[in-house]
Amino acid sequence: MRLVLLGPPGAGKGTQAQALAALWGIPQIASGDLLRAAVREDSELGREAAGYMECGHLVPDELVLKLIAERLQKKDARGGFILDGFPRNVMQAERLAVGLERVGLKLDKVVAVMLPDEEVVKRISGRRTCEDCAAMYHVVFEPPAKAGVCDKCGGELYQRADDAEETVRERIKVYEAATRPLLDHYGRLGLLAKVDGVGRTDEVEKRILAALDGLAIPSQAGAGVGLARS
Ligand code: AP5
Repeated sequence: MRLVLLGPPGAGKGTQAQALAALWGIPQIASGDLLRAAVREDSELGREAAGYMECGHLVPDELVLKLIAERLQKKDARGGFILDGFPRNVMQAERLAVGLERVGLKLDKVVAVMLPDEEVVKRISGRRTCEDCAAMYHVVFEPPAKAGVCDKCGGELYQRADDAEETVRERIKVYEAATRPLLDHYGRLGLLAKVDGVGRTDEVEKRILAALDGLAIPSQAGAGVGLARS
């Protein structure tokens, strides 16, 4: 399975990607997580990306493409992957398609998880993430057993720096301008399924599985995917 999860900030892409990755035994590849790791490591790329992320803007394509290409080359991605947060604009989508095509592969499906703006703000303002294992919680909808502590590994839960309400509103604007056009792009390619993101996480997961309609079988191993310019 080579799947892309699209949707506005806070739609539940990461939550659903984690669940599906566990179900299918293929990796979740989240551009936001890769970028946050680069920022934490204080790498050159991380230092360049940090300013864009803090104000809710997209990080320049070449930086993101470099990170995603490196991640897609890893062995565990050869049997399939779930892309979460990438691609974010048509240019990234085209580079992904070319990279896959070069090794004789293509995406199986693109699922857009749809959520109204006000719900986005509610979800994001309550999000807490484990510092150690990246498990996700919500202070109201998915609270941990003990406040501030991860149920899975005991790690400390933190609130993302770009989850302040003003930054979230900017991220929504950026989604509308840069990412929403991907719905038409993938619609034209016959790859898109839209799924209602309102409801419990297990309900949304069922909708995604129904939208995949029998496709949910991990793909056979393929070659590593490069995203270098053609
Ligand atoms: P990124 O990390 O990708 O953030 P995002 O797309 O804004 O999405 P989120 O991670 O905020 O939300 P999500 O949809 O994964 O929801 P989640 O499952 O966490 O990007 C961050 C930044 O990095 C960008 O602004 C940009 O600067 C940069 N960047 C990343 N990728 C890039 C790219 N390709 N190109 C350029 N720049 C890039 O859920 C949210 C909360 O809701 C959680 O608390 C969760 O527990 C809860 N929740 C989830 N589902 C439900 C449900 N059904 N019911 C109730 N609560 C729920």
